[in-house]
Amino acid sequence: MNISIFGLGYVGAVSLACLARDGHHVVGVDVDPAKLDLIAAGKTPVVEEGMVELMSKVVASGRARVTADALQAVRDSELSLICVGTPSAPNGSQDQSAVLRLVEQLGAAVRALERLHVFVFRSTLAPGTVEEVLVPILERASEKREGRDFHVCFQPEFLREGSSIRDYDHPPFTVVGARHPEPLARLRALFGHLPCDFHATSIRAAEAVKYSCNNFHALKITFANETARLCEALGVDPFEVMDLLCRDTQLNISRAYLRPGFAFGGSCLPKDLRATLYLAKQRDVELPMHAAILASNRVHVDHAIAKVLATGRRRVGLVGLAFKTGTDDLRESPLVLMAEQFIGKGLSLLVYDPEVHLSQLLGANRRFIEQHLPHIGSLLRGDIETVINESDVLVVGLNERRAFDALRRHVRKDQMVLDLVNVPDRASLPVAVEGLCW
Ligand SMILES: NC(=O)c1ccc[n+]([C@@H]2O[C@H](COP(=O)([O-])OP(=O)(O)OC[C@H]3O[C@@H](n4cnc5c(N)ncnc54)[C@H](O)[C@@H]3O)[C@@H](O)[C@H]2O)c1
Repeated sequence: MNISIFGLGYVGAVSLACLARDGHHVVGVDVDPAKLDLIAAGKTPVVEEGMVELMSKVVASGRARVTADALQAVRDSELSLICVGTPSAPNGSQDQSAVLRLVEQLGAAVRALERLHVFVFRSTLAPGTVEEVLVPILERASEKREGRDFHVCFQPEFLREGSSIRDYDHPPFTVVGARHPEPLARLRALFGHLPCDFHATSIRAAEAVKYSCNNFHALKITFANETARLCEALGVDPFEVMDLLCRDTQLNISRAYLRPGFAFGGSCLPKDLRATLYLAKQRDVELPMHAAILASNRVHVDHAIAKVLATGRRRVGLVGLAFKTGTDDLRESPLVLMAEQFIGKGLSLLVYDPEVHLSQLLGANRRFIEQHLPHIGSLLRGDIETVINESDVLVVGLNERRAFDALRRHVRKDQMVLDLVNVPDRASLPVAVEGLCW
């Protein structure tokens, strides 16, 4: 394939070298003449393992070349990879000035083109940028239509500096956000041979995935480092602790707990987090990330409460009360916190939870509910139908098929449903259902 690459930094230079190595004809474009001169001389503009040898080979082969002429580069190619920098602006926002300037030029280049061109954005971009900002510029500058005269797509780049060539050849996956089959087909032709899954998605999701992946990596590093600081203060070997933590591939290094849903609660996570923070405080160890977890969890509960209050409905039906379906443990249940707020705001509340029987609640569990919902006895109903019938807004926090079936049978069109548990086949409910964040 004839490919043009815009921006010859870490991402662009490695892509240029690897694509040319794989037999494609690649022309690189950069605004920095020093980078163009280096590559033209078969040298690498970035320090990366294997790049010295690879760049000299591909430039000598004639398959990799450079130019400062963006228009000509578009004309000479059928697909462009856009890899210009998107650094932080002083206020923390993404500085998109390089990509904005570039797409003006790319649009102008497309104006004179007779054939369909595909633009693949590989620079990290804030979700919405391609569709809301870049496509309108391209259409205006080219006087052509995206999806008809040219295509755009977003393919996040996952390579890491220091191991870029290896990562190029063994990415964790290929994700392409596109609105049409054509750009997907071209990228499958280009990257489909790589030993990883190929996922097609929306452009916005692809943009968001890149941010989420990087944030997750940052979170993992910080978690390991905060754990290490606490271990140091406790006289525990942090490598041993983290190594053992990673050996649990059921709950720790797995998909567990990574599906969006409602806040955590129960008798373990909140109390152990609090105890961890206290241990750290006693030893003057700062753990800002750990300290933020409970606050963030509370924000999630408040988000759900705000959604219910925003409906303006006064009769709330809470389906589920325990911190988790299948248990009667009410301790630190986020649903109890919600119920407490609804009562405090003067809303009328009915609650259904098949596992919660007041007469059977004992010990700390009983004390917790008596402290937070002293009138729980008058709120609880033994059948879900009553709760559904006598409410205007239903909050579904129970992940149970029987409850979903009852909702399907009894919910009315004039009611509203807030779904906290990803009710399966939600569209089949005969009522408007809103998710917490989805
Ligand atoms: N560095 C990484 O490991 C990595 C990994 C994944 C994603 N990314 C993302 O990829 C993008 C590029 O990152 P990078 O580290 O390669 O950046 P970089 O700063 O090393 O290189 C960007 C290049 O773009 C050039 N440029 C700027 N404006 C241009 C224009 N109008 N036309 C042509 N070239 C232009 C610059 O001169 C520079 O050489 C960023 O959005 C980054 O967030 C980087």
